[in-house]
Amino acid sequence: MRFGVDYYPEQWPKSRWDQDIRLMREAGVNTVRLGEFAWSIFEPEEGRFEFGLFDEVIEKLAGAGIAVILGTPTATPPALLVAKDPTVLLVRQDGRRVSFGGRREYCFSHQGYRGHSLRVVRALADHYGHDPRIIGWQIDNELGHEGSDQCFCEICRHEFANWLKRKYGTLDALNEALGAVFWNQTYSAWDQIPLPWPTIGQHNPLLRLEHRRFAASQVTSFLKMQVEVLRQRTSGQFVTHNFIQPGPAIDQPAMARELDIVGFDNYPVWGESSEAPEAWQPALALDFARGFANRPFWIIEQLIGAQGWDVLGYLPRPGQARLWAAQALGHGAEALIFFRWRSAVFGTEEFCHGVLNHDASPGRRYEEFKAIGKLVKEFEQLAVPGSAGTPEAGRVAFGWWPDNLWAWQIQPQSRSFSFQREFDRFYQAFFALGAEIDLLPDDRLWQGRKLVVLPVPMLMRQEQREALRAFVERGGVVVAGFRVGVKDESNRVVESALPGGLEDVFGVKVDDYEALDARQTVNLHLANGDVGAGSVWCDYLLPITAEVLAVYAGGARPGLGAVTINRFGKGLAYYVGTALDEKTFSFIAKEAMLRAGLEPFVLPPGVEVRRLALASRSGLPVYMVMNHKPDEVAVNVPGYGEVVGEPYGVQFVGA
Ligand code: GLA
Ligand code: ZN
Repeated sequence: MRFGVDYYPEQWPKSRWDQDIRLMREAGVNTVRLGEFAWSIFEPEEGRFEFGLFDEVIEKLAGAGIAVILGTPTATPPALLVAKDPTVLLVRQDGRRVSFGGRREYCFSHQGYRGHSLRVVRALADHYGHDPRIIGWQIDNELGHEGSDQCFCEICRHEFANWLKRKYGTLDALNEALGAVFWNQTYSAWDQIPLPWPTIGQHNPLLRLEHRRFAASQVTSFLKMQVEVLRQRTSGQFVTHNFIQPGPAIDQPAMARELDIVGFDNYPVWGESSEAPEAWQPALALDFARGFANRPFWIIEQLIGAQGWDVLGYLPRPGQARLWAAQALGHGAEALIFFRWRSAVFGTEEFCHGVLNHDASPGRRYEEFKAIGKLVKEFEQLAVPGSAGTPEAGRVAFGWWPDNLWAWQIQPQSRSFSFQREFDRFYQAFFALGAEIDLLPDDRLWQGRKLVVLPVPMLMRQEQREALRAFVERGGVVVAGFRVGVKDESNRVVESALPGGLEDVFGVKVDDYEALDARQTVNLHLANGDVGAGSVWCDYLLPITAEVLAVYAGGARPGLGAVTINRFGKGLAYYVGTALDEKTFSFIAKEAMLRAGLEPFVLPPGVEVRRLALASRSGLPVYMVMNHKPDEVAVNVPGYGEVVGEPYGVQFVGA
């Protein structure tokens, strides 16, 4: 397995390199990532390249048996380049151009910037493309992060219009899709189409969604442009990119298709977060990355110490970084590379703590890093890296597609709505029942699955509605959150009763709906006699053929259904019409798992059990038990009985 660090030799005197490399070796490092911000080192003057510094360090690393992943440095344009043409800088939604001095501050549509990027990537590829010491390439760094996904400059306005022209063909078709008759927005020329800059009121919902789709396609094409150069000019080296959590206007599944390996940056805490995350939080991020990857997935940056620019928060407790590393392995990461080697003494990231202290001493975090190196070795003996233990049919598939997230970002509909929070609510409920979860883009969602969960699937294309229908019909179980199928691909409200085109599948009609603010909840009466609570949103469900599992005891339409279940064909469809409290959600999730033939096992809070691919000598599976809490805990592991989980501990059971 690949185990390593992100290393910035250009930030330290050469006299220090040997010592660094020796300490890396002693910790078991076999891979480093280099160079992703070093544009001015590679190209000190436009067109003049110098690779001496990196040649030297790569030679030393190779001497120690350490392989290199090389970053293309396009995330940080040189000052000189920006000074010559400030139009490469991104323009924010309010029309103001950002300043040079941070990072990722460029416009993806800028042909000049693309040209500069091509020049440096070509030069790097020509120099290192057949060098066996370089195992692969990372394109740019965290594309779309930190608000760099959407640019509102004049070039983008022009490109957006061209993009719309390619998509719609004619202005009539575009006007029709937009519903441009509304508020007199019929366009008679392509260059009349605005970007969603500030206006009075709000822009058209489809215009805003198309702008995100356009922005995402620009990011993909920027990535692809670099991938193509590397494919032409290198051999025997892979291409990767380090992705972040969902949120920005980027199309992760489309980008992943261009790559050999999907990289992910895993920071369970960052900045001012005041508490440790719950066990399910990093788990969700990892399942997300593995899901859209659909190919090997590596951690390119993994947290070793507290991270922050100007403000810090929760300090990972001793053992916690090791625990989070184990968790990444348990969720399928095939490589673990840590951010960063030594803590910087200058620059924006002085407080992003690396393996070594600021003074270069190997302290507490270095010791933990070494312990992680051992853990990686141990893991390798027990599992095939990247393999998930349970066959697909035994796992719960969660549907996730960018369009739906963006549509919700554009129109949250309730002041207390957050897509992430609602998605989390579903994930958390199933995670607590020991479910292994895959977060999948919709094209790989249904095949071979028994249980598919769709948190708040508001925007659904016709094929998605059909796939859901067919899945339930042939015996699948679906659990869907509120606002099911309200919008079509054009971000218009569907012209059929809600849930759009799926009334018979869910056996309900949404008779009314209501947004709740952050202080409001609605009581629910459950079929089992319990009382629960809903928040954020109420879809008031009128059962047609469905059975009501929870009924509203308040709100605008008491007596209507809040949660329902319907038999359709050979399968079952649950409709969850409101944001359920944890206990009620757990009850529903458990029922759904049982009905789908999946075995829930209730874990103590903070405990995670991952099945590894190998069988133990007894024939039972090998499990990795992770205790995310600071106290000892007793865990019942299927087939093995009680196991004691140490504080922040990782145990292999059955090994
Ligand atoms: C990100 C970036 C790194 C660095 C770290 C700091 O994930 O990719 O360059 O900024 O965060 O935690
Ligand atoms: Zn732009």
